[in-house]
Amino acid sequence: METRTRTLFLAISYLFMFSFVCFVKGSLSFNFYAASCPSAELIIRDTVNSFSSTDPSIPGKLLRLVFHDCFVEGCDASLMLQGNNTEQSDPGNRSVGGFSVIDSAKRVIEKFCPGTVSCADIIAMAARDAVDIAGGPRIMIPTGRRDGMISLASNVRPNIVDTSFSMDEMVQLFATKGLSLLDLVVLSGAHTIGTAHCSSFRDRFEEDSRGKLMLADKTLDSDYAEVLMEQCPSGVQPSVKVNNDPQTSLVFDNMYYQNLLAHKGLFQSDSVLISNDSTRILVEDFANDQDLFFQNWAQSFLKLTTVGVKSGDVGEIRISCASTNA
Ligand code: HEM
Ligand SMILES: *[C@@H]1O[C@H](CO)[C@@H](O)[C@H](O)[C@H]1NC(C)=O
Ligand SMILES: *[C@@H]1O[C@H](CO)[C@@H](O)[C@H](O)[C@H]1NC(C)=O
Ligand SMILES: *[C@@H]1O[C@H](CO)[C@@H](O)[C@H](O)[C@H]1NC(C)=O
Repeated sequence: METRTRTLFLAISYLFMFSFVCFVKGSLSFNFYAASCPSAELIIRDTVNSFSSTDPSIPGKLLRLVFHDCFVEGCDASLMLQGNNTEQSDPGNRSVGGFSVIDSAKRVIEKFCPGTVSCADIIAMAARDAVDIAGGPRIMIPTGRRDGMISLASNVRPNIVDTSFSMDEMVQLFATKGLSLLDLVVLSGAHTIGTAHCSSFRDRFEEDSRGKLMLADKTLDSDYAEVLMEQCPSGVQPSVKVNNDPQTSLVFDNMYYQNLLAHKGLFQSDSVLISNDSTRILVEDFANDQDLFFQNWAQSFLKLTTVGVKSGDVGEIRISCASTNA
């Protein structure tokens, strides 16, 4: 009975997704560049491929990049704009990367089809390809996003989830982006690849009187906590990083959900997904069935990459992703 209810729940969310796709297709479309820049998708894919083959940390960076781009001002490449008070100057920027991959793809594309392909589309497609290259599902996403003109550091904090957020806070923030509780659980699966700085999970530990770290958050597996404390002792260099997924850090798979069930979610915001009944059921489903996770990923990723997109006369097609056209 329970399984049937869940299946029904997933089936209903697919139906919602279907109408959602029809809705966004008004502004975005599949193969948007088929006539204006037919080589765009291939150039992006080749660029992501070649960067990732020399630097395996690239897929993780590109995936986080699209999340932070889309949650702040919508998927409009606002995160790429350089300047004194832009989104990049938020301290959180130290963990976003992959800009050079986007810039490189953009340079090549500009040679073939000047002023045609937006940086926002390049970010979305690069993240899509990054997942595929890391072993995840290969999916189609619609294109036609335009680049934004606004990038403000003060917009970052209110729009980005902090690891200290409760389930309610995360669900509420996701809801403001049109994303559901299911999307939250599915998209958190991104933490199956990539790395994190020690500071991002420091709140799960405390220092004893001799300055040695102790586990404070008892929801974390104690063996895993030991390993983390070894990698990130008190006073560790701020640049030190650990793998988000301690098992298969370079592979986009469903190991994230298996880790969660083994109490090895790295961030507090990961661990809470098993303390709520509604989300734990989904975590169990995805831990047991990678195909189910991949199918849901395709839907939720599509929703993420259409958050607040600009189309028509809004925004512009930037010539250089680092600055507006003047
Ligand atoms: C739900 C709330 C989320 C929170 C609180 C969160 C938080 C974080 C934090 C703190 C890091 C480590 C940053 C660092 O120290 O370098 C991280 C890394 C990462 N996040 Fe999330 N995240 C969330 C959701 C997402 C989503 C929705 C995606 C993409 C769909 C995503 C993709 C990633 C990736 C790929 C990395 C690794 C980055 C790298 O390897 O450089 N995260 N996240
Ligand atoms: C940033 O501010 C400094 C000092 O006020 C100024 O010299 C510089 O041109 C500014 N940079 C940008 C990109 O606006
Ligand atoms: C990121 O933020 C830090 C601190 O605000 C700043 O010093 C640094 O220049 C920023 N990095 C980029 C790439 O803008
Ligand atoms: C799980 O989280 C959702 C969203 O915050 C909330 O509505 C629900 O009541 C929570 N369920 C339990 C059992 O805590």
